[in-house]
Amino acid sequence: MDATIDKIYAEALAELAAAPDAAAVQDLAVRYLGRKGKVTGFLRGIAQLPSTERAQAGKRANEIKRALEAEVEAAQQRLSRDRETVAALDVTLPGRRIHPGVLHPLTQVTGAVCDIFARMGFSVAEGPEVETDYYNFEALNVPKYHPARDMQDTFYVSDNIVLRTQTSPMQIRVMEKQAPPVAVVAPGKVYRCDSDLTHTPMFHQVEGLLVDRDVSFADLKGTLTAFVHEMFDPQTALRFRPSFFPFTEPSAEVDIVCVMCRGAGCRVCGRSGWLEILGAGMVHPNVFRSVGYDSPQVSGFAFGMGVERIAMLKYGIDDIRKFYNNDLRFLGQF
Ligand code: FA5
Ligand code: MG
Repeated sequence: MDATIDKIYAEALAELAAAPDAAAVQDLAVRYLGRKGKVTGFLRGIAQLPSTERAQAGKRANEIKRALEAEVEAAQQRLSRDRETVAALDVTLPGRRIHPGVLHPLTQVTGAVCDIFARMGFSVAEGPEVETDYYNFEALNVPKYHPARDMQDTFYVSDNIVLRTQTSPMQIRVMEKQAPPVAVVAPGKVYRCDSDLTHTPMFHQVEGLLVDRDVSFADLKGTLTAFVHEMFDPQTALRFRPSFFPFTEPSAEVDIVCVMCRGAGCRVCGRSGWLEILGAGMVHPNVFRSVGYDSPQVSGFAFGMGVERIAMLKYGIDDIRKFYNNDLRFLGQF
């Protein structure tokens, strides 16, 4: 009788080894271990055996039943694992999306501004953000205690060291190193104790300086008009408004029509319809004097523009602080 149950077991193992898939294993389990299965049938027949054989046959048959159940279970697991592996390699699934980073909008706009001037023949220079009082003020015709210092609310590091309030000190640094002609733009961060919808304590400027013989205010107007038409579009309205800077004479500020309200007046432009983007003028003789450009033939113009303002106008952004909130939903749009 033992021989019969061992034969059934051997048969089952051979079939199991040849089973191609989980369905075949399931079918085998029913045929051997199911209610009408061969192992189950054998167990039922034990009652009819002579009493001397019953205990021995029953013990063996139960061992084999448990062993076969374990084999079936193992085979099912192995086959379902194989199926998962195939699924993990499904080459028809769409690929995982890669989210590339983008340059910050202010970095993009600074780059665009410098590119436009580079095409007009300007080179690009950079300088320190922690600046001496001399470069930030004195050499730019703003002596100590001069009321013009109140135009910019300055962060002082010490008596003679400031966080630069403007990129204009780059005019001095460039001219000290180089004889005329000069055509340079200098982008960078500047700092002022100032904060509202259109002002942040740290912001960016691009300084421009052109020095040569016979440079006139008309050259300044032409250069800046070309820049605005290139940066925005050729229809963009701009105006030159008389102004004052200690380091230029005459001086002007340039406004372009507010893109938020198209000139009607809104909270961004302070109801004026215009937004100031830069200060400019003809380089003051005292500035030339401080760098040793004495010749009366030398003349030049300079300008300093606010990068945030240009970016706001270009993209129609109504609050300058959005550039600094690091909200990826905002930054990802550029
Ligand atoms: C100046 O800083 C002069 N150095 C510009 C200049 C250069 C004049 C060369 C003549 C010759 P002003 O303080 O106006 O000027 O600032 C220039 C521009 O920076 C402004 O037109 C504005 O666009 C921007 N700006 C000024 N303050 C802030 C601020 N707190 N936040 C953001 N942008 C500002
Ligand atoms: Mg100004």
